[in-house]
Amino acid sequence: MAPLALSVLITGSSRGIGLELVRQLVEVTNPPEHIFATCRDPDGPRVKALHELAKKHPSICVIKLEVENQSSVKAAVSVVGSHLKDKGLNLLINNAGVHSMANLETVEQQELLSVFNTNVVGPILLVKEFLSLLKKAAKESPTQELSCSKAAIINMSSIAGSLERGLKDWPFSMYPYRTSKAALNMVTVCMAEELKGDGILCTSIHPGWVKTDMGTEQAPLTVQCSVEGILKVLAKLSSSSSGAFLDWEGKNIPW
Ligand SMILES: NC(=O)c1ccc[n+]([C@@H]2O[C@H](COP(=O)([O-])OP(=O)(O)OC[C@H]3O[C@@H](n4cnc5c(N)ncnc54)[C@H](OP(=O)(O)O)[C@@H]3O)[C@@H](O)[C@H]2O)c1
Ligand SMILES: *[C@@H]1O[C@H](CO)[C@@H](O)[C@H](O)[C@H]1NC(C)=O
Ligand SMILES: *[C@@H]1O[C@H](CO)[C@@H](O)[C@H](O)[C@H]1NC(C)=O
Repeated sequence: MAPLALSVLITGSSRGIGLELVRQLVEVTNPPEHIFATCRDPDGPRVKALHELAKKHPSICVIKLEVENQSSVKAAVSVVGSHLKDKGLNLLINNAGVHSMANLETVEQQELLSVFNTNVVGPILLVKEFLSLLKKAAKESPTQELSCSKAAIINMSSIAGSLERGLKDWPFSMYPYRTSKAALNMVTVCMAEELKGDGILCTSIHPGWVKTDMGTEQAPLTVQCSVEGILKVLAKLSSSSSGAFLDWEGKNIPW
């Protein structure tokens, strides 16, 4: 199988879906040369599993990145750039996210702003700062067709943010989370349009309801199963799926 991408950056790699993406990416037959596993607190106690993985696989580079802090994002860009030398970055996965439940009685301004900061503002800043490395990768690629091996941005969204399906599938009060993921989906649509001329693919993925700290033990899907599905979907993305909203099995989700 052709490599999914020569270089990949993942936010929120300390645990959950982000950590499992790193774990499975090093195990594939044709692994990326560079896996930039970013987390907000690389020296914290939560990041032990990631460091152990990085010790075994020199392709993994653990980098500090707080998605809502623009100087932290800029610092990460320069570390990534120095590892890539004169090459571009092929695949950027906006995975870091926070969940928050609240109904109209309990919702607070500070909570809304903080969830938007991580789930919407962060991914926009990340793309803004990494755009020149993504454009470079797209230019270096010999193929015309959009793909993750050329240059791509993937947003880990949620069906909870779907206007049509969100309330049916997830009947809970969660103003901060739902509105932030709906906004993130709009970003995908805008970005896909804006960047298609640069050869950069943009897609939102819903990972399913997954057993992680966020998804809880009640979730039906294991993180292993969700990530296996996501990686298969990523390998098949093309121009026709840019600007789309897909789940971990590759099925279209209505906006
Ligand atoms: N699990 C589900 O059922 C489900 C369903 C739909 C969508 N999703 C989406 O999938 C993505 C991953 O979810 P998950 O289930 O793996 O969640 P998780 O287990 O709660 O992990 C969230 C990750 O995001 C990181 N993060 C949070 N805020 C951050 C910030 N400001 N800067 C940098 N990193 C930050 C966390 O880092 P720390 O360890 O430092 O806190 C952690 O690595 C999220 O975008 C989520 O919305 C999940
Ligand atoms: C933002 O990141 C910079 C660079 O890593 C750091 O010096 C600064 O303290 C961070 N700011 C906040 C509010 O965490
Ligand atoms: C991802 O989300 C960010 C921020 O919401 C947005 O700027 C970008 O266009 C989106 N890209 C994709 C591919 O979804």
